[in-house]
Amino acid sequence: MKISVIGTGYVGLIQSVGLSKLGFEVTGIDIDERKVKKLNSGISTLYEDNLEEELKKFINENLKFTSSYEPISNSDVIFLCVGTPQDDFGNADLKFLYSAVESIKKYIDNKPKTVVIKSTVPVGTCRKIQEILKDYPVEVVSNPEFLREGIAFKDFFEPERIVLGFENPENNRSINLLKKVYGHFEKNNVPFVISSWETSELIKYASNAFLAAKISFINEISKLSDKVGADIKTISEAMGMDERIGAKFLNAGIGYGGSCFPKDVKALAKQFESFEIESKIITSTENVNQAQTTWFFENKIKKYYGNVSGKTFAVLGLAFKPNTDDLRESKAIELINILLKNGAIVKGFDYIEKARENTLNKYILSDSKSIGYSLHILDHLEDAVFETDGIVIATEYDFNIENWMKIKELVKEPVIFDGKNVLDSKKLKSLGYTYFGVGRN
Ligand SMILES: NC(=O)c1ccc[n+]([C@@H]2O[C@H](COP(=O)([O-])OP(=O)(O)OC[C@H]3O[C@@H](n4cnc5c(N)ncnc54)[C@H](O)[C@@H]3O)[C@@H](O)[C@H]2O)c1
Repeated sequence: MKISVIGTGYVGLIQSVGLSKLGFEVTGIDIDERKVKKLNSGISTLYEDNLEEELKKFINENLKFTSSYEPISNSDVIFLCVGTPQDDFGNADLKFLYSAVESIKKYIDNKPKTVVIKSTVPVGTCRKIQEILKDYPVEVVSNPEFLREGIAFKDFFEPERIVLGFENPENNRSINLLKKVYGHFEKNNVPFVISSWETSELIKYASNAFLAAKISFINEISKLSDKVGADIKTISEAMGMDERIGAKFLNAGIGYGGSCFPKDVKALAKQFESFEIESKIITSTENVNQAQTTWFFENKIKKYYGNVSGKTFAVLGLAFKPNTDDLRESKAIELINILLKNGAIVKGFDYIEKARENTLNKYILSDSKSIGYSLHILDHLEDAVFETDGIVIATEYDFNIENWMKIKELVKEPVIFDGKNVLDSKKLKSLGYTYFGVGRN
């Protein structure tokens, strides 16, 4: 079976390499020619644990990349994995998706094809794409992606469920084809959810919005916890012991970021709006999240110093989560921008080299000269904290490192602002640090 994957970003690249590891003949198609050239020489264009090693194993064997849509004509299954970013109004912008669909058209002959929408798309999109392709022997399938950056390979090979949406879930020709593509997972007893297009599209948005709501919920509780001197970490742990609640996504902090939650929550709210239904929880989830980083700055960092102008801060963690280079909607970057705007000097660090590189490129491209003098990206944590007035934890790495004692000797003042509540506050206080967390002190 021949497979094409259109769009080779975080989702499409993992899908391409993963399917080639499962033995399929895969062509990744991307309009970005520089990306294609790099991938064909076995160099990964993004950071994901193990990705480059795996890419090198299959490239020029059963995996190749191209900018031409020609391989579509020989493909049985075509996965669409292009970006669906937020437009100026908060909707999902489908211009890349529709442009890819137009490009596919030119290479469809009489051979039946299955076009699988992996991109996160608003309800009704699969129906629209089927309508666009109505004169072609094409069946459109919805197959939302649930991988988590940072552990994307693990998620590809051990998914918790595979959701497939069809125009007619009871009668279609693509289901057996897709069960072959995902046969490995069926053998491993991964549950398959077979539904209509609309149900499948909504499963993805509802899942992301629910996780985002959990985070905003605990962040709201953390403000009260802060005021009354309670400890939000203990509250979360005790709540999580109730299996109806579940322990995950209950860690208070500076809010959620990344390439999915912020845009998907907004796009879901917009879908409610377009059907003239009020979406109180979804809108509040977004509002709480938007205010959270500023709340942390005002109530913790600024409150401690009075004025941060001229102060130097180490910001530890740059990407939106650990083990990725993805800076999209990163709360660490939002916090850096707030600090810089308030006249502070920032020394940023992330364990992932590509995250550091991307941060530098982001600010160089923004061409902000004043920021250029105030922001430094360092390759070592020890250099980032050197002679700083405060350390800010901005990404959920396990920073419970052995050498906090040594770090204390390097800083100007041993103050830590733990924006992700990851540190052992008691231990740090016993070492002589002043500690501030979110909803705990
Ligand atoms: N990143 C994640 O963790 C994640 C998880 C689940 C779902 N999703 C969803 O998957 C989709 C893709 O996300 P991503 O993070 O991989 O995006 P991305 O921005 O990393 O990658 C998109 C790729 O598509 C390419 N592209 C754009 N237009 C094209 C066209 N017409 N033809 C061929 N290639 C084209 C771009 O050059 C880019 O390489 C989005 O809808 C996203 O919401 C993402």
